[in-house]
Amino acid sequence: MTDDSVAPVLTIDGPTASGKGTLARRVAQALGFHYLDSGAIYRAYALFAEEQQLNPEMAQADPALAHALALNLPLRFHADGIMLGDREVSEALRAERIGNLASEFSALPEVRAALLARQRAFRSAPGLVADGRDMGTVVFPEACLKVFLVAALESRAKRRTKQLIEKGFSATLESVLANLRKRDARDQSRSVAPLEAAPEARLLDGTTLSIEDSVEQVLQWWAAVGGRNIPRSPASPDQHLRAPDGTSPSGFQQPNGSRRSSLPPSQARR
Ligand code: DC
Repeated sequence: MTDDSVAPVLTIDGPTASGKGTLARRVAQALGFHYLDSGAIYRAYALFAEEQQLNPEMAQADPALAHALALNLPLRFHADGIMLGDREVSEALRAERIGNLASEFSALPEVRAALLARQRAFRSAPGLVADGRDMGTVVFPEACLKVFLVAALESRAKRRTKQLIEKGFSATLESVLANLRKRDARDQSRSVAPLEAAPEARLLDGTTLSIEDSVEQVLQWWAAVGGRNIPRSPASPDQHLRAPDGTSPSGFQQPNGSRRSSLPPSQARR
């Protein structure tokens, strides 16, 4: 029998539209691993909350409700789509409005706490490639390999504008640029699980590398680490996350509101 709890994990974190989804999918395919798009979970939460008439301000005022909604998120991933209840929502989740809402809701510790176990459940043999903002810092701190993908703002904006237009949404480069700036600032400055590189993360710059070269680089790093996860210390990873009753998802008491110091990607290990 295979023990999923020791399945190797490779994390790819980075800002919006950096190309981490494409990179993570290709790497997962090359390794024959499972793939977690954690942003899709936050997006699904945003769509569900909106349908339940809950906006980010109301969620902030009533964190217990926001937490309960996240615990009961009727989300299922299938080989050919993402189901919210009995609806296929893969395309609806890609709307810029939903991405922005996801960014707002995801700043709430209670929402993050409630979605943590759901993300960790993706870990199974033969291994997992997970992409997001806090995969290497909070969700899978024991990952064998952590990649932090960066790309110049302009190139990310062009990429996102093209994606949105291809999916039938209206978008201009200027509006996407302004939006990415706002999203980056919010995702980086929130007090829980902010977007940041883990100290041991390898930095990859998607502005100068093609997707093929990026995949190749990650696979080389993967071969070099030999697919062994870092032994996990029980106390540290979940201390960012708190349920409404003050406990963290793993049951540890939140010691204080302390936050990991933010490491500029430029200082991440190459
Ligand atoms: O990767 P994405 O654009 O689909 O993510 C949408 C939002 O969800 C993002 O702006 C912040 C939030 N998110 C998060 O807080 N943590 C993650 N691991 C993934 C996404």
